[in-house]
Amino acid sequence: SETNHTKPTNKPNQIHVVGIIGAGTMGSGIAQVAATAGCQVNIFDTNQAALDKAKTALEKILARLVVKQRIDATEKNNIQNRINYVTQLKDLADSNVIIEAIVENLEVKKSVFTELESYVSESCIIATNTSSLSVASIAASLQQPKRCVGIHFFNPAPLMKLVEVIPAIQTSYETLELTIDTISSWNKTVAVAKDTPGFIVNRVARPFYGEALRIYEEGIADFFTIDSAMKTIGGFKMGPFELMDFIGNDVNYTVTETVFNAFYFDPRYKPSFTQKRFSEAGYLGRKSGIGFYEYDNNGKMVLP
Ligand code: NAI
Repeated sequence: SETNHTKPTNKPNQIHVVGIIGAGTMGSGIAQVAATAGCQVNIFDTNQAALDKAKTALEKILARLVVKQRIDATEKNNIQNRINYVTQLKDLADSNVIIEAIVENLEVKKSVFTELESYVSESCIIATNTSSLSVASIAASLQQPKRCVGIHFFNPAPLMKLVEVIPAIQTSYETLELTIDTISSWNKTVAVAKDTPGFIVNRVARPFYGEALRIYEEGIADFFTIDSAMKTIGGFKMGPFELMDFIGNDVNYTVTETVFNAFYFDPRYKPSFTQKRFSEAGYLGRKSGIGFYEYDNNGKMVLP
């Protein structure tokens, strides 16, 4: 399905006011998910241009859904009106849950969390969308680390059904339970995983990319052939190289390197020089117009 169609279902005891920190790729997508589910959303970013971009992008996405008759004009307006774009962290003060989706940097996240906690209520859940940092290390920046949990969405958040929920060792049972209920009410499927590098999906996916890169590096097959083979046998919507281009070679490489380091250099997760060079050269994939494949201005692949 194209998006969530959950009608507002919030009961008084459920999460209703959602704060989002970071209006980039993930934050703006999560805001759309929560607003579509009927929540009031305040989204904060230090960069005004990011907020403007998020607002324009949402308008466009929703307009397309109206054209496709997935939602009507009233629903479009309702979703848009539920999202406020705010310029101060303290504008998130009345949230029931706050999901952070800023730059993947532990020190930056920790300092934002410490400041945030001074504004919010005792019961507010403070969550991180981190892909690669430990939730325990982020939670440790809080006076009340039991309110912290990982809520890991996938890109694009409105389309990807799965959300990993990651209790840290500090996380209380109440926080975990309310998080699972909330995310489920947003029409998502929750998978709970322990606070370990890559959680479930990003860890299982490592060998999918890693072996594909090694097969290519060893000259066994070119990447178009590898992608075609993986798609032809069924199940895979995209081959590993298409997917790396879609995710971005910079992002994908960094995730691999982080998992590799975090598992004490276990060779199972060894990053690839080929991908490192692609990333350094700016061959990032779809977003830069060239990666393993070439892309036109609309991000459509130009077939080799
Ligand atoms: P992004 O670069 O698209 O957006 C980050 C936004 O955070 C930017 O708009 C930036 O202005 C803002 N920001 C940076 N520092 C800030 C601060 N101190 N206060 C407020 N706003 C600040 O990043 P993206 O891709 O959305 O990733 C965000 C988080 O989500 C990261 O932790 C990443 O690991 C995680 N993640 C990313 C996925 C992806 O596929 N891009 C998938 C799942 C998780």
